[in-house]
Amino acid sequence: MSPQADLRGPAAMADAELRLDGRVALITGASGTIGGAIAECLGGAGAAIALNARSTEALQVLESEIANRGASVASFAANLTDRRDLESLVPQVLAQFGRLDILVNCAGRVHRMDTLDVGTADYDEILDLNLRAPFVLSQLVAPEMIRLGSGRIINIGSLTTVTGLAGITVYALSKAAMGQLTRQLAIEWAQYNILVNCVMPGFLRTKQTEEVWADSARRRWMERRIPLGRGGSGSDVARLVSFLASPASGYITGACIPVDGGIMAGMAGFDVGDRGDAKGAVRTQSRKPA
Ligand SMILES: NC(=O)c1ccc[n+]([C@@H]2O[C@H](COP(=O)([O-])OP(=O)(O)OC[C@H]3O[C@@H](n4cnc5c(N)ncnc54)[C@H](OP(=O)(O)O)[C@@H]3O)[C@@H](O)[C@H]2O)c1
Repeated sequence: MSPQADLRGPAAMADAELRLDGRVALITGASGTIGGAIAECLGGAGAAIALNARSTEALQVLESEIANRGASVASFAANLTDRRDLESLVPQVLAQFGRLDILVNCAGRVHRMDTLDVGTADYDEILDLNLRAPFVLSQLVAPEMIRLGSGRIINIGSLTTVTGLAGITVYALSKAAMGQLTRQLAIEWAQYNILVNCVMPGFLRTKQTEEVWADSARRRWMERRIPLGRGGSGSDVARLVSFLASPASGYITGACIPVDGGIMAGMAGFDVGDRGDAKGAVRTQSRKPA
């Protein structure tokens, strides 16, 4: 057998294991940059898609784009900081699709402010959306996943799930807790074959970060800290989410995985190319040929 023929069998199997045909996925924050990319990617892999955000108009645009590509899709507008909206979302998806296999907790907001300026309302708003909603939705989808004998919950965290970043303390608290929520649910619900993971995007170019990337000093600050030298996209995150939703990732649970161009591989506070030594951080010389 030629080496190519030998590889064809496992490769075909891997393709099939990445498919999501027959599965139903609920994606919160679906009208955002990352949520939209996730919805398109999971729809492309064959899943039926339940889209959630507050704005009906934005959801309808995405819904028709996904439907035009042949996927089954429906929108469920709900404000996840409103307890009644939050609790009615999963029953509505089940009434429409009859099952629910995958939950992607993507809706999230950041308030950029000094910790001394954070008021109670800011604190509650961020924690309610970024932490309470994923917690409650996970509780609500679990009985259905137990009924099905399997399920996937994928939380969209941030690099602040595992490290600090000044000026966004409440957001960082919510995302760090999301990492712990991921581990708690993974160990409690492994017995039901519900796999729970967290994806940690780095510095992406999205609506939420448009203003930051438009500022040339801040753009340079970010690019110097990304070994791959550029900001990421929603699709970079979506491809990993799709993998974590698929049968191919059946032995991964409780993991928090960065999609960050290499930031977390080094010391995030240092410029790429810096090395600490007795004389302090020194810029290393490029070895690119002249
Ligand atoms: N962008 C980045 O560089 C980056 C980096 C690390 C982590 N993340 C995380 O990735 C996730 C998505 O980020 P993104 O950049 O795609 O954000 P985005 O473009 O601002 O989208 C946010 C989404 O959440 C929805 N949303 C906001 N408040 C809501 C509420 N109360 N109830 C229901 N839905 C609500 C928004 O739609 P409506 O306004 O219509 O409700 C929108 O669909 C967030 O959890 C974020 O923390 C982003």
